[in-house]
Amino acid sequence: MSNYHIKHLEEYYQVYRKSVREPENFWEEIAEEHFMWQKKWDKVLSWDFSKPEIKWFEGAQLNITENCIDRHLATRGDKTAILFEPNDPNEPAIHISYKELAERVNKFANVLKSQGIKRGDRVCVYLPMIPELAVAVLACARIGAIHSVVFAGFSSTALATRINDSECKMVLTSDGSYRGKKTIDLKGIVDDALKDCPCVETVLVAKRIHSDIHMEARRDKWLQPLLDEASTECKAEVMNAEDPLFILYTSGSTGMPKGMVHSIAGYMVYTAYTFKNVFQYRENDIYWCTADIGWITGHSYIVYGPLANGATTVMFEGVPSYPNFGRFWEIVEKHKINQFYTAPTAIRALSKQGSELVDKYDLSSLKTLGSVGEPINEEAWHWYNDNVGKKKSPIVDTWWQTETGGIMISPIPFVTPTKPTYATLPFIGIQPALMDEEGEEIKGNQVDGRLCIKFPWPSMARTIWGNHQRYKDTYFSAFENKYFTGDGALRDEVGYYRITGRVDDVIIVSGHNLGTAPIEDAVNEHPAVVESAIVGFPHDVKGNALYGYVILKDTGESRDQNNLRNEINQIITEHIGPIAKLDKIQFTSGLPKTRSGKIMRRILRKIAHKDISNLGDTSTLLNPEVVQDIIDNAL
Ligand code: PRX
Repeated sequence: MSNYHIKHLEEYYQVYRKSVREPENFWEEIAEEHFMWQKKWDKVLSWDFSKPEIKWFEGAQLNITENCIDRHLATRGDKTAILFEPNDPNEPAIHISYKELAERVNKFANVLKSQGIKRGDRVCVYLPMIPELAVAVLACARIGAIHSVVFAGFSSTALATRINDSECKMVLTSDGSYRGKKTIDLKGIVDDALKDCPCVETVLVAKRIHSDIHMEARRDKWLQPLLDEASTECKAEVMNAEDPLFILYTSGSTGMPKGMVHSIAGYMVYTAYTFKNVFQYRENDIYWCTADIGWITGHSYIVYGPLANGATTVMFEGVPSYPNFGRFWEIVEKHKINQFYTAPTAIRALSKQGSELVDKYDLSSLKTLGSVGEPINEEAWHWYNDNVGKKKSPIVDTWWQTETGGIMISPIPFVTPTKPTYATLPFIGIQPALMDEEGEEIKGNQVDGRLCIKFPWPSMARTIWGNHQRYKDTYFSAFENKYFTGDGALRDEVGYYRITGRVDDVIIVSGHNLGTAPIEDAVNEHPAVVESAIVGFPHDVKGNALYGYVILKDTGESRDQNNLRNEINQIITEHIGPIAKLDKIQFTSGLPKTRSGKIMRRILRKIAHKDISNLGDTSTLLNPEVVQDIIDNAL
C-alpha cells in the first residue's frame, strides 16, 4: 500500500524520508494505486536542471478527466462534484453531481470539436466564476486542447497579450459578470482585445447577466444552443503523460507575462496527493477554496486536485463584501463547509470588520483553514485562528507558486504542529534549500537565505510557452542545478520554514503577483510622463500596495496633480487591470540611478517604507541630489 493519506507526524517523517531517498519508487506507488492510466509509464522520472528538462511518467497515457470524472461515476455518480454559490445570495446554489458534470463536460467537449478545436490547440478561457468556467477547462482537457485561463479581471490589453503569446484559436467568455453590486462587460473587453488578435477564429459566449451585447458575425456564437445540440458522450482523448495540460500566465520582474506550461500526469498526481493531505479531505466533506479559477490556486485546488479525489468543491461567484462582510461565514454555515481555503488579504479585510459578523454564523462544521498567496502576518493568523477556527481548526499556511503547480511547504492539519506565520515543513517529495548570495547552500537551522528546490517534483512547470530560454534563465540560472523560487525564507530551530517575501521585482498585492516593469510601461504611456519607477510598501489589508515615483515632462505645477494621478491609474487599469493601480504617486524631478543608469530601487523602496535611517552609500549615484528631494516630498 502506498502512503496516500498521512495521518500522524511520525508517518509524515517516515514517508518524507522515503520520498527523498527513493523518489521514483515513492511516486510510482502513488501513481499506480490511485489513478487511472490507459497505459503505464516506461520511466518514472528523467531530469536535467541544466537544460532544463523534466519528465515524469514518460511513456504513460491517460486523460485527466477520466481521473477527475469518469472513474467516480460508479461510486459517486450522484455525489455533488461542484457546488456553485452565486453572487446574489437570493439566487439558489447549484449542485452539479459527478454524473451531471460528466454530461456537461462531454457536451462542451463536443462543442469545442464541432467548432474546429483539436488536440494541442490553445483555447483562451475568459470567464467569471460560473460553472461554465470549470466545465470549459475540463472540456479542453477531455479533447487534449490546451486551456489558457485568463483571470476575468484583466483588461483587454492584458487579455490580448496573453491570447497572442500562445496563439489561441478560440476564446470562451460570457456576456458579462457579476461582482457584488456591479456588473462587468466581459464581452466588451473581449471585443476590444480581439481587435489585435488575428489568431482567434471563434468566440463562444455564455449567458450570465443577459445584457445586450454585440455579436460579431461569423466569429461569435452563443454557447447554450450549441450545448443543447451536443451529445453527452465524448470519448476522452488518449494523451501522453508529458503533453501540456494548460498554460497559465504569471508576472515576471521584467517583460511579458510568462506562460507557464504544466503537463498532464505529474500535475494530476501531485495536485491530487497534496489536496488529500493538506486538507485532510474525507469522503463527505464539503471543501471551499475562495480563489478564482483564473489563478493557479483555482486550477489546482478548485478543479483538478479536488475532483481527482472525488471531492465536493465549492465555486463562489461573488466577493467577500457583498451583500455584506458576513458573506463568507454565511456560506460556511449554509453549505456546512469543512475545509476553507483563502488568502491573507481577505482575512485582513474581514478582520477589520470585527468579530460580530463571524459570531453571527455557525462555523462548527469547519475542520481545516487554509491560507495562500502571500505571507500571513501574525495578527491576521491569530484573528483567523481565534475567530474563524475557534482555536480548534488548524491553519495550513501553504507556500507554493504558479510555477510549482501544487503546494510545496505546508503543515498537514492534525499532523504538523502549526506555528503562526510559518509554512512549516516541506511537503512529501519536496527538497528545499536555502542559498547565500555566493551560491552556496546554507545548512543547519536558524538561518535565512534564498529559497531553492533541489530535486524535481511531479507538478513543476516544464517550460515557458514559446520561450524555453527564459524558463532556464529565470528559474535555473541563479543557482546551479537548483530551481530558484524568487522568494526569501528562513528556517527556524526545528526546521520550519517561514517565507519572508520576494527577493526580485515582483510585488504581491492582495495575493496577486505583479511585475513592476509592465506597470511602469503603462505609466510611461501617459503623454505627460517621462519615466517612472514602482516599488511596494506595506499595506494593512493588501499586504503590499504600489508606490509610483513619476517624472513629468514639465514639473506638473501647471496641471492638477490629482487629475494626473487618476489618468495614470486609468491607463494602468486599461493595460493591466484595476489590481495594478498605484496607491501612491509621487511626482519627482529625478530617480536615483547608478552610473550605469540602473534605477536604485532599494533606495526608493526604503523611502516608500518610511525607513530612511539607513539608505546606504548614495554618493556613488549618478545623481545623489535627487535622494533628499524625494525624501522631502515623500507621501
Ligand atoms: O512570494 C510567494 C507568494 O506568492 C508567490 C507565488 O505567487 P503565484 O504564482 O501567484 O501563486 C500564488 C498561489 C500559489 C510566491 O513566490 N506566496 C504564495 N503562498 C505563500 C506566499 N508567500 C508566503 N506564504 C505563503 N503561504
